[in-house]
Amino acid sequence: MTSELKERKILITGATGFIGKWLTLYLHNKSFQLIAHGSSEESIRRLKSFLRGQNIDENNLEYWQENFLKDDWKFPNFSDIDAVIHCAAITKVREGTLENYDKYFQLNVVATKIIGKKALKEKIKHFIHLSTGQVFGKVDKFPITEQTPKNPINLYGITKLMGEQVIASLGMMGLNYTIIRPFSVYGKMHQNIIAIITNKIKNNEELTIYGDGNQKRAFLHVDDICNAIFLILFNEKCFEKDYNLSGEKEYSVNELVNLLSKKFEKEPKIVYKKAPVNELNRNIADLTKIKLLGFRPQKTLEDFIFNEL
Ligand SMILES: NC(=O)c1ccc[n+]([C@@H]2O[C@H](COP(=O)([O-])OP(=O)(O)OC[C@H]3O[C@@H](n4cnc5c(N)ncnc54)[C@H](OP(=O)(O)O)[C@@H]3O)[C@@H](O)[C@H]2O)c1
Repeated sequence: MTSELKERKILITGATGFIGKWLTLYLHNKSFQLIAHGSSEESIRRLKSFLRGQNIDENNLEYWQENFLKDDWKFPNFSDIDAVIHCAAITKVREGTLENYDKYFQLNVVATKIIGKKALKEKIKHFIHLSTGQVFGKVDKFPITEQTPKNPINLYGITKLMGEQVIASLGMMGLNYTIIRPFSVYGKMHQNIIAIITNKIKNNEELTIYGDGNQKRAFLHVDDICNAIFLILFNEKCFEKDYNLSGEKEYSVNELVNLLSKKFEKEPKIVYKKAPVNELNRNIADLTKIKLLGFRPQKTLEDFIFNEL
């Protein structure tokens, strides 16, 4: 990437989230100017403290605090923003219940529309939308390609698919967009299934597994996601395209528990329960399309568990 590109300014929505904070650090280290968004003073304070802990100088960083569930939003100054990477979303599959219906719709669909429209109006050069492998739902044929039919089976997957369609419709009106669908991401400081199982095992607590534990995920390290986004950012070949993104190896929940039990030399007590919402049995991406950009996953889950955890 040329120095000219490095001077560009990028707005990251959801920069206070798990992927957002590692992406902020990654793109900052590539010398981009950034506006990092979070929904609250507290989450921005935590992001600042995380970045300071990584010894970065904050010269190229601005912050934008806005709660997209409010009615009256205020955007930051868009005059010199070159790209938007839209990470903000409600992301928990299991919290997608009737009680939370409006929140999922408001954030994953309506807020996506408002930000996408603003980006189009301001003629920003590239809009990268983070969607999810959950948009595919139950699938007959694996690995999942970009052409696999999308039949989501939970509220998270459905509202994220609607968000994709909103962005594609703005694409028809001139927005240069790319959709990225991470499947299951992991890394340090993530409150995901790996962290939950790790904490239970370390604290000798009973472990609840939803379903029979044979459901599989192809985990991808967050550094690999950041690298994929970097390959796509401002790359005109990627405009109006979508990319599925997962690890190359699948692990069942039972296998994950075994790996973590081995790491911490414990034998956890496990209780199997019915999941509260529909969940996927398998979720692995076909990486053919993203590999054409030069992408290759660099990290393995075993390395992470045995050397980084
Ligand atoms: N992690 C994964 O395994 C995974 C897999 C597939 C797809 N994705 C997609 O990748 C993106 C980032 O995921 P993530 O794991 O980083 O999610 P996350 O940790 O749950 O972060 C969500 C982000 O959205 C922001 N947000 C939540 N409610 C908001 C509101 N009312 N107004 C404004 N912002 C709000 C949060 O801000 P605060 O921190 O301030 O609340 C946070 O920055 C999402 O679009 C997700 O669908 C993630």
